[in-house]
Amino acid sequence: MDDAAPGFRVRPFTGALGAEIEGVDLSRPLDPAAFAAIHRAFLAHGVIFFRDQTLTPATQTAFAARFGKVEPHPMIKPRYGEHPEVVAIVKEPHERHNFGGQWHSDVTYTEKPALGSVLYAIDIPARGGDTLFANQYLAYETLSPGMQAMLGRMIAVHSSSRSYGDGGREGGYVGGADSMPVAHPEKIGKEFEHPVVRTHPETGRKALYVNEVFTIRFQGWTEAESAPLLDYLWRHSTRPEFGCRFSWTKGAVAVWDNRCVQHLALNDYHGFRREMHRVSVGGAKPY
Ligand code: SIN
Repeated sequence: MDDAAPGFRVRPFTGALGAEIEGVDLSRPLDPAAFAAIHRAFLAHGVIFFRDQTLTPATQTAFAARFGKVEPHPMIKPRYGEHPEVVAIVKEPHERHNFGGQWHSDVTYTEKPALGSVLYAIDIPARGGDTLFANQYLAYETLSPGMQAMLGRMIAVHSSSRSYGDGGREGGYVGGADSMPVAHPEKIGKEFEHPVVRTHPETGRKALYVNEVFTIRFQGWTEAESAPLLDYLWRHSTRPEFGCRFSWTKGAVAVWDNRCVQHLALNDYHGFRREMHRVSVGGAKPY
């Protein structure tokens, strides 16, 4: 156990990443020492979890804003007009689509992908609906020196076309599902380039930075040429020993570092309702 600050504890979660923090009420303003300890845990563990919180859109946003400037989702229509930064991630009992159901980092189809996100559990299925996380520092560090050197010189092209476009790989949950309509169809398919290996601006560590949902090819390569290497990297980057799995309870909160962690929302709860509120913090251009 890691004593982070007077009054609360940080318990590392698995060998790869994640920590559960106990003894904090996120609905109250955190003093600088308490937030500094939470921030240290966030950087050290990649994703941090809290149980039994009671947050409103305003208090969730206020907590997220301690990490940086909060920003609305670039695609999804906000459900709460007065809080455009709160994305309601909803799957109704009759729906089959599940937002975030493949391994990804958030919004890498933008110039400045999110720094991280704060996800709060509002309504939890009777079973299932866990979220999986994978440590992308480990994904990079376990590649051979030759592969690291080659990837370190490469750029990848990212786009929302496969998930948000017609026949998207997530089955068109957005644009098709009633619960999460797209607000900005005109943005679908724009391409942005990011390094395949990025340096974390706060820790200085290198992380693999491609994902199955939004990375479509390498710069200067065709999609067909890129596919075998990307397939390998997707399999490698989500190896079980790089990951952790969080089982939600009502009121639980996860905060992940989108610069070095991928995540996946398991779609194993058909027939049940699940509602989560996500607030994302804006990031810088990856380098
Ligand atoms: C996401 O942000 O990709 C969804 C995560 C979740 O609903 O567990």
